[in-house]
Amino acid sequence: RHHVLSLADFTAAEYNTVLQTAASFQEVLSRRTKKVPTLQGQVVANLFFESSTRTRSSFELAAKRLSADTLNFAAATSSMTKGETILDTAKTYLAMGTDIMVVRHREAGVPNAIAAEMDRLGVKVSVLNAGDGQHEHPSQALLDLFTITTLMDPASPRLELLKGKKIAIVGDILHSRVARSNIWSLIASGAEVHLAAPPTLLPKLFAEYILEEAGGRGQGAEGDKLILPSASSPTPQLFLHWQLEPALQNADLVMTLRLQKERMTAHLLPSLREYHQLFGITRTKLQLCKPNVKVLHPGPVNRGVEISSELMDDPEFSLIQSQVTSGVAVRMALLYLLGSGKA
Ligand code: CP
Repeated sequence: RHHVLSLADFTAAEYNTVLQTAASFQEVLSRRTKKVPTLQGQVVANLFFESSTRTRSSFELAAKRLSADTLNFAAATSSMTKGETILDTAKTYLAMGTDIMVVRHREAGVPNAIAAEMDRLGVKVSVLNAGDGQHEHPSQALLDLFTITTLMDPASPRLELLKGKKIAIVGDILHSRVARSNIWSLIASGAEVHLAAPPTLLPKLFAEYILEEAGGRGQGAEGDKLILPSASSPTPQLFLHWQLEPALQNADLVMTLRLQKERMTAHLLPSLREYHQLFGITRTKLQLCKPNVKVLHPGPVNRGVEISSELMDDPEFSLIQSQVTSGVAVRMALLYLLGSGKA
């Protein structure tokens, strides 16, 4: 694999390679000297056409830990304000000797377009999708996977550990690239994935999109559930709920999602108080889940909306800070695997 643009076609072997490589970098990061010379001489350009805190900073730190040189681009302070196009911007970074481009954009498909242009030019530049519109956020889903599986088996995090686990993904699924990437990795693991949101944020159209992306393997809607058996598992794996409780019942993990107000037209934006009452994750609602349930959130968080402030800060349940920590090791793994041509 030359680029990482989506997890829809990731194989179990690829997931496990990323997890094992990330585990070895996590060990490096626990040492006194946290730097390795692996990507010395290579250039990693962070092309962020949309705002970011954790993804941009952790890709930068990951590249630096691997001894790569880093270039950071932010659209607002770039020559795009003078009319330069996205592809011309990418080609400018190519001309400076960039080896890996990490791309975020508010529109779906921009990383793919840059990757296609690099391939058309016949250059050996890799493109990593750091979040494109409502499409995908592969490195986030991979760090979520790493966070969960490392908790289950620190010595050997692997995809298969999630087989049969019930995982609830709750919130603004319609606008969530994180949900889409997580759906692919969790289905590949053999987990049971339960999506829960108000109907405006989990439309039937979304279910049809997932079915289509999955290559027509689905069986269609059934009541308030959509059944999506995968090739590797004949049992239902993806369920849709327009209420929270059935998704939380006996769940092993809960992934909450940010209400993406910036992507919503006014009629989609729920009353925040009502939303928190119905779909906000709180300690009380977690009582429906397995006793040792853990909660994830990709960040940034609307405190007191999709998750209560006290639960967000409760280390007994919240994995939010661990997710951020995992991000560096996982992004080191991705940069290493692409940079050394082993992905
Ligand atoms: N999770 C995530 O993508 O966060 P940032 O927008 O801060 O990068």
